[in-house]
Amino acid sequence: MSDKIWIFDTTLRDGEQALKASLTEDDKIQLAHAISRLNVDVMEVGFPVSSPADFRAVERIAREVKGPAICGLARAVEKDIEACGLALRPAEKSRIHTFIATSPLHLEHKLRMSLDDATAMAVRSIKQARHYTDDVEFSCEDAGRTPHADLCRIVEAAINAGASTINLPDTVGYVTPDEYAAMITHLMNNVPNIDKARLSVHCHNDLGLAVANSIAAVQAGARQIECTVNGIGERAGNCSLEEVSMILKMREDHLKLHTDIVSEEIYRASRQISQICNMPVQPNKAIVGENAFAHSSGIHQDGVLKAQNTYEIMSPETVGVPNNQLNMTSRSGRHVIQHRLSELGYQPEDYDMDSLYESFLALADQKGTVYDYDLEAMIYFNNQSNES
Ligand code: KIV
Ligand code: ZN
Repeated sequence: MSDKIWIFDTTLRDGEQALKASLTEDDKIQLAHAISRLNVDVMEVGFPVSSPADFRAVERIAREVKGPAICGLARAVEKDIEACGLALRPAEKSRIHTFIATSPLHLEHKLRMSLDDATAMAVRSIKQARHYTDDVEFSCEDAGRTPHADLCRIVEAAINAGASTINLPDTVGYVTPDEYAAMITHLMNNVPNIDKARLSVHCHNDLGLAVANSIAAVQAGARQIECTVNGIGERAGNCSLEEVSMILKMREDHLKLHTDIVSEEIYRASRQISQICNMPVQPNKAIVGENAFAHSSGIHQDGVLKAQNTYEIMSPETVGVPNNQLNMTSRSGRHVIQHRLSELGYQPEDYDMDSLYESFLALADQKGTVYDYDLEAMIYFNNQSNES
């Protein structure tokens, strides 16, 4: 038996916040379709009160994109909830996501209010949001730096007010996996009405722990992960959708958890988001980076040619990458050269491997990667000099 983990994609809200140039409405529609093809459960697509353009984009996505619940963000204030409720009206399934900060640092310096005041605002906003939809999510901003007892108080009140998802963001990417798990466990054991809501995690990547923290949280009992494609988001970004969903897919037997993500759509969505958002993906990025399925060492290449799973824990096709790549470098052996040449249509009798390999190593030492056209040129020139 494996439990389902809900995937809440926030590429078009938290992810979009981090872009240097804002996306056009058409860009957002195109990306919203790509994200919906991934079969996420919820997609957060904007912050309707923030600008008329954001309102229009959320409204249009709500009208045109089917499948996932469409979600908008709102601070715990009346005008935000109203804008969100109105923008989401055309959606078949809508969610209002309202939040307020709960950490002593944010309460004292940013909001200048007490936890009781913040709780009262949260309760009022959740009740208001319930007039628009019965799917209301409440987030304790900076939960990672909020005392557990304070979280328990505000979460209990939020659930009583009608929130069906409770999100505990590590807004500044500060906590470690064991601390995140302990926070979830504490809430599950100390909030009397906790079984009336789904617990959610929202991790930022300031210390590179967003994915590890999300996995620790679901192992402890959270059932929704908030994430973005390519991990784009504020500062060092958010938990990456492709990484968490592939961890849950590849290690389902161990974790006893799964998502409904259509993994074969991952690479296409990643490329579209990278191109439209003008955010290149680092070559060694897990799952979607250019090198994620590329092998350079001769020992690895030989292993992969004999049995793919010697050096690949998942096949590239699982995530929509058309094929793996065997880079031809000075570490490559004869096996991979022969393999590549047979893919290019050459028979072993078409070239002399000893002289070809000698020229190959000389060139690879000079220029790093040897390409198909280099190989073909070497065969041509070696054959010519053998003939003369
Ligand atoms: O990081 C954060 O705390 C957020 C909230 C608005 C959920 O993005
Ligand atoms: Zn965030």
